[in-house]
Amino acid sequence: MIILKDFSLHLLDLAQNSLRAAATVISLDLNEDVTANRLIIDIEDNGRGMDPTTTKKAVDPFFTTRTTRKVGLGVSLFAAAAKRCGGEFTICSEPGKGTKLTASFLLNHWDTPPMGDMAGTIITLIAGNPKVDFFYRHRRGKAEYRFDTRSIKEILTDVPISSPTVLAYLEEHIRKGLTQMETL
Ligand SMILES: Nc1ncnc2c1ncn2[C@@H]1O[C@H](COP(=O)(O)OP(=O)(O)OP(=O)(O)O)[C@@H](O)[C@H]1O
Ligand SMILES: [Mg+2]
Repeated sequence: MIILKDFSLHLLDLAQNSLRAAATVISLDLNEDVTANRLIIDIEDNGRGMDPTTTKKAVDPFFTTRTTRKVGLGVSLFAAAAKRCGGEFTICSEPGKGTKLTASFLLNHWDTPPMGDMAGTIITLIAGNPKVDFFYRHRRGKAEYRFDTRSIKEILTDVPISSPTVLAYLEEHIRKGLTQMETL
C-alpha cells in the first residue's frame, strides 16, 4: 500500500512528533536546488530526542512508543517517499537535545509530491501551539521566504499570536510570500 501525501501534510505530521516530544522550537527548512534537481527538507526540533535504538526503530513502521496505536507511520512514510523519489533519508537524534530529519527528493521525479498547503500547515501548528516557536525557511534557487514566530511575537505585545485576526493576517502573509517566490 502506498500512501501519497503532499509535503505540507508530511510536515504537519512530523511536527506533531516534535510537539509530542515537548519541543519548544521547531524548524522546517525546504531547499529547492533547481540546478541540482534536488529538494532537501530538514525538520529539526529541540524536543526530548531519542536514544540510538529508538532512533533506528523510528524508521521501522512496526515501532512506536505510543500505546494508543500499534504502528507509527509518520517517519517511515516520509523516509519511504524520499527513497521512492530518488532521494535519501537520514535521522539524527540525541536524548535531551532534539531530533533532526533530513530528506531529499529529485525535483523532477514522477512521484515527488506537490508542496500542498504550506501556509495552512504553519497556521495550524501556530494556532494549536502558540507557546512553541516555529521557524520556516523555503528556498527555490536564489529566491527565499522566511518566517519566524519569535520575531512576530516581539512585535505583538498586546495580542496573542493565536488570536484569529493575527492568524488570518499571518496566513495571508505566508501565502503571498510563497507565491511571490514561485514567480521570481
Ligand atoms: N521528533 C521526534 N522526537 C522524539 N521522538 C520521535 C520524534 N519523531 C519520532 N519519534 C519517535 O518515533 C516514533 C515513530 O514516529 P512516527 O511518526 O513514525 O509514528 P507515531 O508518531 O508513533 O505515529 P503516527 O505518526 O503514525 O501517528 C514515535 O512514536 C516516537 O517515539
Ligand atoms: Mg508521528
